[in-house]
Amino acid sequence: MADQFVDLRSDTVTRPTAGMREAMATAEVGDDVYGEDPTVNALEAEVAALFGHEAALFAPSGSMANQIALQLLVSPGDELLCDADAHVVTYEIGAAAAYGGISSRTWPAVGADIDPEAVAGMIRPDGFFAVPTRAIAVEQTHNRGGGGVIPLSTLRDLRAVADDADVALHCDGARIWHAHVADGVPLIEYGRLFDTLSVCLSKGLGAPVGSLVVGSADKIERARLIRKRMGGGMRQAGILAAAGRYALAHHVDRLADDHAKASRLAEAVAPFGVLATTVRTNLVALDLTKHALDARALAAVARAEGVLISVLGPRTARLVTHLGVSDADIDHAVEALPRILTAS
Ligand SMILES: Cc1ncc(COP(=O)(O)O)c(C=O)c1O
Repeated sequence: MADQFVDLRSDTVTRPTAGMREAMATAEVGDDVYGEDPTVNALEAEVAALFGHEAALFAPSGSMANQIALQLLVSPGDELLCDADAHVVTYEIGAAAAYGGISSRTWPAVGADIDPEAVAGMIRPDGFFAVPTRAIAVEQTHNRGGGGVIPLSTLRDLRAVADDADVALHCDGARIWHAHVADGVPLIEYGRLFDTLSVCLSKGLGAPVGSLVVGSADKIERARLIRKRMGGGMRQAGILAAAGRYALAHHVDRLADDHAKASRLAEAVAPFGVLATTVRTNLVALDLTKHALDARALAAVARAEGVLISVLGPRTARLVTHLGVSDADIDHAVEALPRILTAS
């Protein structure tokens, strides 16, 4: 049994810091279903302004925020386009179909390397016999795509594609903060390119709970009803919103540290037959196609050495850095992982 543990499975495993807990404990609260929670209202206004939109809505999870946005943009029976690895069609348990009646069609999994022309070629306009495309969703940063950052120029081209075809553009921005820190693109620049965004406070930013849907005032008014219908109306949610406000004030710039730590991990495993994608942010995807160990086996041996990693597929594993991972933790992982990979 290892005496040192580092949890690299996900950036969702963080625990609130002392400062965050203090902010939560002292938060002013009210009944948010009545619109009377001052801390939730302040968070929603703050996040809307960050992205240059009129309004935002606090939701319990990134999945619910995504699904509310998709229901705003795509009517039952109509179509969403996204990539085959997108969180909205991979990890949300069929919610777009189950709750929104939404038909989804995907382009091949290419992570952040999207070809706007290829996406344009997939759009089906209104007409007889074809399911009409109503929205395109992209993921910034891309989770299964090794934390890849979609370049601003690609997003601008996609916006032009969406405008030409009169379809909407949604951003699953669970880790858009990481893209902002990695590429130095202001959040407002990202915001103005999308009809709706979902952004998460509970991933790299380290809040225990919470995501927001961002959009125009009329969309967010409808979003409030959809959230209630889905059971996401919360009462004294200011305790959670306070954690989110604290995270926005204290945990955005520090993401650069997480990115540097992720690069150290990628460099450590690269010489041992593991194809790590170019690491830009806090996610490191390991392609074990050419390695003797498959992802489950690697995860099991690594766990015994005190390094917890995620299994994303038979030969795909993932390492994630976050605010709960110290330099000493990375030292431990960069010592243990090459040793494990060479021994097998
Ligand atoms: C890209 C992306 N979108 C959405 C989500 C959903 O967030 P939640 O787990 O809060 O539903 C995640 C979760 O990790 C994610 O990685």
